[in-house]
Amino acid sequence: MPADGDLAEAASVLRSGGLVAFPTETVYGLGANALDARAAARIFEAKARPGFDPLITHLADVADLVPLVGPVPPAVAALAARFWPGPLTLIVDRPAAIPPIVTSGLATMAVRVPEHEHARRLIAAAGVPVAAPSANRFGQLSPTRAEHVVRGLGAAVDVVLDGGPSRCGIESTIVDARGARPVVLRLGALPVEELAKVTGPVTVRPGSSGQPVAPGTLAAHYAPRTPLRLLAAGGPAVGGAKAMPAGLRRGYLAFRDRPAGGWAAVELLSAAGDLTEAAARLFDALHRLDAAGVAEIVAEPVPETGLGRAVNDRLRRAAATWHPAG
Ligand code: TXA
Ligand code: MG
Repeated sequence: MPADGDLAEAASVLRSGGLVAFPTETVYGLGANALDARAAARIFEAKARPGFDPLITHLADVADLVPLVGPVPPAVAALAARFWPGPLTLIVDRPAAIPPIVTSGLATMAVRVPEHEHARRLIAAAGVPVAAPSANRFGQLSPTRAEHVVRGLGAAVDVVLDGGPSRCGIESTIVDARGARPVVLRLGALPVEELAKVTGPVTVRPGSSGQPVAPGTLAAHYAPRTPLRLLAAGGPAVGGAKAMPAGLRRGYLAFRDRPAGGWAAVELLSAAGDLTEAAARLFDALHRLDAAGVAEIVAEPVPETGLGRAVNDRLRRAAATWHPAG
């Protein structure tokens, strides 16, 4: 836990238009005062993020939603009541108090109440809503540790709060629950099955090419610098590829079983075959493989169920940078 003085200092940096990277249970966020257009602009600059990719506004408490945005549709209220604080982002109408740069000009705004204690105390102490994307450069691996933020963004950030490794390790699930049937815009740390228990059937809209609804769903995203090749699920290629190909130094990202052969680096997501643990370790493992000096990362998909869907989604996007998806 950071000292109260550090949190107070970070909160005052936020209030005066600065950038504070802070831990959340999903990934680390790069925060700025969401009421301040110039502060929000600094986020886009620090991340080299295109202006068309809107930010998520973070609140300290569920009770802060309606005072900021006004009355919300019943399904939005029900999901907020059930899952906040937690790894769920909801789409609402953008209130006049939030400058359009935060939402990239959209009439809607993405909002969530993070669960991580540091995040909630920071936002409460700042006394303003906090716009925060993941604290990485655009398109690169998301940060799940303070050191990932420092390595990726360095001097572009005024303060980095260290809250240890992120518990979920994968971004929030984004849901538009304003209509008759909720639509998942980004698979994430809250499994679709959990949402459906509250709202009934939900639709999962995979990112399509063209004008993205949630640009975190761009085909090429969350990518390491090293080319990543994703193996086919359960196909014969998996077993075959587990033998070390001659010549190149390659890294291997495995789900539960250590691959045979002399891979230069191997990361195991969960020896117990647990998808929650696999999600929590995903980006950290990719950061390590990326730093291992290998020519290629070979990754195997995890089971396509629960959190596994979000893990496979991130792996497909990481692979798409180098092997455009058909
Ligand atoms: O877990 C998370 O959500 C983390 C932590 C820091 O809260 N944040 C995060 O932010 O992943 P970012 O900026 O990396 O991803 C936010 C996604 C983007 O893909 C963006 O397009 C989408 O949210 N988004 C933001 N506003 C939106 C809106 N009004 N409609 C649809 N999608 C929106
Ligand atoms: Mg991001």
